[in-house]
Amino acid sequence: MNRALFTGAGIAGVVLVGATFWPRQDGTTDLPDAETLALGAALYAETCASCHGTELEGQPNWRQPGPDGILSAPPHDATGHTWHHGDDLLFAYTKYGGAETLAARGVNGFASGIPGFGDQLTDGQISAVLSFIKSTWPEDIRSQQAERTRMERAGS
Ligand code: HEC
Repeated sequence: MNRALFTGAGIAGVVLVGATFWPRQDGTTDLPDAETLALGAALYAETCASCHGTELEGQPNWRQPGPDGILSAPPHDATGHTWHHGDDLLFAYTKYGGAETLAARGVNGFASGIPGFGDQLTDGQISAVLSFIKSTWPEDIRSQQAERTRMERAGS
């Protein structure tokens, strides 16, 4: 077998999967096609709804940390603060989990209640779930969040 060729094909495959959807550098608020949203909704129901709620409503008393200091899952609908964060943070939080994402930003030892889903979901699947979440927000919230993405990428 031609090992070099095989490895090359593997890398090309990974790059392709990663490029399906992420990142959207232009910060537009356009939503992806219906198929991607349906995939995102199905993955959300399977992977996220147990904590964040089937209606994206979050857990009760999500503003109060438990006795162990761990937060409850916040809503992903417009009443929560998911939309206060730019795309890159939302993506990292989902892929790497809270503790690792915050540690990468200099906040160490945070007792996070969310694990990383990078072993379970591809980058394209994570993007589809986040797109589904965004599709539930009203247009003005979506454009405010897109602005957050632009500001974060500009480093402010
Ligand atoms: C085991 C419970 C659990 C599951 C399952 C879970 N989360 Fe979370 N999530 C949390 C908790 C708790 C937080 C609050 C922050 C923390 O503890 O780090 C959170 C926070 C987040 C945040 C940051 C939101 C903000 O407003 O700061 C995002 C984004 C997120 N989750 C996305 C997802 C997605 C997408 C899925 C499914 C792929 C998912 N979560 C599955 C528990 C969970």
